[in-house]
Amino acid sequence: MTLSRLVLAFAASTLFTGGAFAAELSLVSGSVGKDIEELRGQLDAFEKESGHTVKIVEMPASTTDQFGQYRLWLSAGNADVDVYRTDVIWAPQLAGGLVDLTEAAKDIVGQHFPSMIESQTVDGKLVALPMYTDAPALYYRTDLLEKYGKEPPTTWSELEAIAKEIQDKEREAGNSQMNGFVFQGAPYEGLTCDGLEWVASHGGGQIVSPDGEITINNPKAAAALEKAKGWVGTIAPDGVLAYKEEESRGVWQTGNAVFMRNWPYAYALSNGDDSAVAGKFDVVPLPAGEGGSSAACLGGWNLAVSKYSQNQEAAIDLVKFLSSEKAQKQRAVNQSRLPTIPSLYDDPEIAEKQPIVAEWKEASTTRSRRSSGRPSTRRCPAVARPPTISISSKNVCVA
Ligand code: GLC
Repeated sequence: MTLSRLVLAFAASTLFTGGAFAAELSLVSGSVGKDIEELRGQLDAFEKESGHTVKIVEMPASTTDQFGQYRLWLSAGNADVDVYRTDVIWAPQLAGGLVDLTEAAKDIVGQHFPSMIESQTVDGKLVALPMYTDAPALYYRTDLLEKYGKEPPTTWSELEAIAKEIQDKEREAGNSQMNGFVFQGAPYEGLTCDGLEWVASHGGGQIVSPDGEITINNPKAAAALEKAKGWVGTIAPDGVLAYKEEESRGVWQTGNAVFMRNWPYAYALSNGDDSAVAGKFDVVPLPAGEGGSSAACLGGWNLAVSKYSQNQEAAIDLVKFLSSEKAQKQRAVNQSRLPTIPSLYDDPEIAEKQPIVAEWKEASTTRSRRSSGRPSTRRCPAVARPPTISISSKNVCVA
């Protein structure tokens, strides 16, 4: 190829904006609710500002399936994906295929909860920047609890009793679709979160102790799991065994559940125009087990740049854009996503539009310090979730 043809070919395959190379980026992401819609809006703004273009590659809803696919892509050195949306617990296992963002993010990491930056730091390498954190809530129907003269439950036994009574009475009154409680019962990462909460809230530990001992085989854990098993087909539909976040929200949002365990994203959606429960619900922390205290699994999502990306510089700019205070505020206002930037918890607009954010400040700060059972640190290179226990002995560690 002559030099002039080479120049022409290069010019034809690229764009220049203000002298900067315009990259075509690809971002892979799972989603619930309006995640993709919100993301697309933010990407449009990024495209305008940077001159780059970004394609979203949507992943299956199950976080377990996403993780498996990402590991395959990274281990195969896939150059088609520039940016991965990653779960808070994946950092240690994906770190080898991700770019170190330490230098690029040195001026912004200080804005975030330190523990959230730590959770994405593996052997001194910052592998992802946070988009939002997650802390579950017990959603309850204010109208139904009021109708039957009940207070929101503080223990699982209270929840069981209230759920059963209201479910049965509503069914007798003609609402045959009513259920007492919906949660995440499908065999995937979501159930692991729910299960950890049941066990921990009964004083049954975190499956694996901080020093790596497998502790799940104890009477309190057994009692917690027996109790949850008893909900299937009584206060929860049989189908709950196939529910992930969105299936639970579907039942709840059509008005067919008294209680739901879910993440804060369901708050904004439950108040949406198309929701049968808009204005008829509130949230409280998850109940405690007998002799235990409320326990909540730490969740949250981050953005990481692939080591195999051909557009690393542009991809890093994108990750910084999506983890910025402005993007986090939009996510909080529109989607009730919990920011990882402490000052946003005192933002009046967020507090007015999505009260759960300010109410969950305590949950986010306290739990982010304590790691709530799913840490990802250097000394503990993996998470305390059951599916990982069988993979390798390194993966049985709780900080
Ligand atoms: C939420 C949490 C995430 C967790 C997932 C389980 O998305 O943020 O950490 O793994 O739910 O389904």
